[in-house]
Amino acid sequence: MNCYLVTGGAGFIGANFVKYLLKKHTDIQIVVLDSLTYAGNLGTIKDDLNDARLTFVKGDVKDREVVTSVFEKYPLNFVVNFAAESHVDRSIENPQVFLETNILGTQNILDVAKKYWTTGKDAKGYPTYKEGVKYLQVSTDEVYGSLGETGYFTETTPLDPRSPYSASKTGADLIVKAYGETYKMPINITRCSNNYGPYHFPEKLIPLIIKNILEGKKLPVYGDGSNVRDWLFVEDHCKAIDAVVLKGRAGEVYNVGGHNEKKNIEIVKLTISTIQQLMKENPAYQSVLKTSLDNINENLITYVTDRLGHDQRYAIDPTKITGELGWYPETKFEVGIEKTIRWYLENQAWVEEVTSGDYQKYYEQMYGNR
Ligand code: NAD
Ligand code: TYD
Repeated sequence: MNCYLVTGGAGFIGANFVKYLLKKHTDIQIVVLDSLTYAGNLGTIKDDLNDARLTFVKGDVKDREVVTSVFEKYPLNFVVNFAAESHVDRSIENPQVFLETNILGTQNILDVAKKYWTTGKDAKGYPTYKEGVKYLQVSTDEVYGSLGETGYFTETTPLDPRSPYSASKTGADLIVKAYGETYKMPINITRCSNNYGPYHFPEKLIPLIIKNILEGKKLPVYGDGSNVRDWLFVEDHCKAIDAVVLKGRAGEVYNVGGHNEKKNIEIVKLTISTIQQLMKENPAYQSVLKTSLDNINENLITYVTDRLGHDQRYAIDPTKITGELGWYPETKFEVGIEKTIRWYLENQAWVEEVTSGDYQKYYEQMYGNR
């Protein structure tokens, strides 16, 4: 039986991954370790915790005692490390916590895993490991930097991070790679493009735009809206991670992309028109509006001061994972965005729950700076 440590499992992708694993595999155990920062919400996996296969531990990935205690208590053979500070804008305001969590937290987990997974040494002095162990680092295409109008990121594209967030994720990737090379630890790194889907914290573009439309608030588009992201439906990402944990060759990096490039302004306009259409098709949805349906139109779009060092374009070449593991992005964007919007329309209580803390204060400060 596989026993997973899923760090950051109360966040957006981590929670979706936990739900995916519970549906896909019968004979598993999952331990979620999450410190529940502003981006983590236990309510997201509350119902899943009724399943005896899932356990939640509140704790910080930087905390040696906590990480040791979960390895001591559970027969973990897989680690999937989602835990991170994940928002570029916040990294521009306060880089330090990004380095602490994303780099030092990663190194702490690696070190404890190495201790619990090694069985001895080979003739050359390299550690040997228990059968069937694997550490997977969930990374990002942002470590490759920014593209011009053409080209794609492959696994051999030089690392060239440009924001404090992507620099911290690159630091993490390098220490994971070092454990793979120096200690021959079985590791993988996955680098994916921008995810979207249910349980996405409404500070990232798509869930923020949905929230603001429903409230009749302005839709802030940074710069001229021409920046391009390669959008990946979160469930497709979860399938990719599952495949890499189980079948990825140790030591390898796999890029995971949606083959779905869109300019930010296209995303915003498509979100407006999809919400208009859903509201007309199903008038019951109008009950969630905090504005009138007539106010939902492109006049809400407002161009604001650009993000500092704003990466122009990301686009992934997923040939390697498709060729080796048979993975491909199954969800067409038009289908994924409609599913996502319907989810938000039907789960406003979740939005209220996750935005009840310091959210308002953060936004007043953010927009005050723009
Ligand atoms: P998220 O911000 O929604 O969730 C992060 C989770 O990690 C939260 O539950 C938070 O409480 C937890 N966490 C933060 N610091 C912690 C700490 N010190 N100890 C324990 N838990 C801690 O992030 P997400 O969007 O779900 O991203 C998950 C991972 O995927 C991150 O590593 C991110 O860099 C990577 N990634 C995300 C995207 C994306 O589009 N969202 C794209 C590429 C890569
Ligand atoms: P974001 O969701 O923060 O993801 P990332 O910066 O990791 O790609 O942003 C996606 C794109 O949308 C990015 O080009 C910045 C832009 N953006 C806006 O135009 N307005 C917003 O309010 C936000 C949050 C992002």
